[in-house]
Amino acid sequence: MLGGCVAVATGVGVSFRDGPNEVRALVDVDLELRGGEFVALMGPSGSGKSTLLNVVAGIMRPTRGTINVLGLDLATASALRITDLRLQRIGYVFQNINLLPDLTLAENVALPLEATGTRQRRARRLAIDQLEVVAVADLADRFPGEVSGGERQRAAIARAVVGDRRILLADEPTGALDSDTGDQVLATIRAVCARGATALVSTHNPRVGQAADRILSIRNGRLRASADGAALASPAS
Ligand SMILES: Nc1ncnc2c1ncn2[C@@H]1O[C@H](COP(=O)(O)OP(=O)(O)OP(=O)(O)O)[C@@H](O)[C@H]1O
Ligand SMILES: [Mg+2]
Repeated sequence: MLGGCVAVATGVGVSFRDGPNEVRALVDVDLELRGGEFVALMGPSGSGKSTLLNVVAGIMRPTRGTINVLGLDLATASALRITDLRLQRIGYVFQNINLLPDLTLAENVALPLEATGTRQRRARRLAIDQLEVVAVADLADRFPGEVSGGERQRAAIARAVVGDRRILLADEPTGALDSDTGDQVLATIRAVCARGATALVSTHNPRVGQAADRILSIRNGRLRASADGAALASPAS
């Protein structure tokens, strides 16, 4: 289900001060994300991947340029509106710190729904439906410490996309996983995209590139032309 643009960045720059120096983490980045697509963001360590995810999430404001996410101008919107947008429409999966250890998988997934006003019983039902999509519904009442790393990561993806979330940002979601478990996580991301969400996934892992609809390469904060995932990730390239 490919839709219109969910995010458009134009000429985005992000700079950090490091004493007297300016670290340019993003330089003149243009980006368009469409509804339902799975985009891999690939580049070496320090190239700006996490910074770009943070900008799209509205966690970090660009130093230059404009960024519009789901109709909101993130360079100028109030912090409150941005927080609201993130809570309701954007999911963020970090590499390790994701689920709350004292809540079951279902309770973890229900959390963002309850935080935005959904009643507990309905939140649980929606949470279990979402765990079904990522194929861990049978583990709904286990605690994160009682499931595997891959199952935890799939539950974290469920929590990131539950409700009416349109954008899934995932920073190295397969980084700590073996390749079979990583493939299950990728299948999960594909499943949520098939239901209309857009995924932007940072990675060093060529398998993520192969699974994606397209790849954005980033070097020294600059995006390079995107390519078809399978083509770019093949050994010939
Ligand atoms: N708060 C900060 N202050 C100064 N420099 C920063 C800050 N955050 C990031 N940087 C610098 O910005 C650049 C991009 O960092 P970023 O975290 O986006 O890289 P990355 O591609 O995610 O790397 P990795 O693959 O290692 O996670 C790096 O040179 C980094 O040192
Ligand atoms: Mg990073």
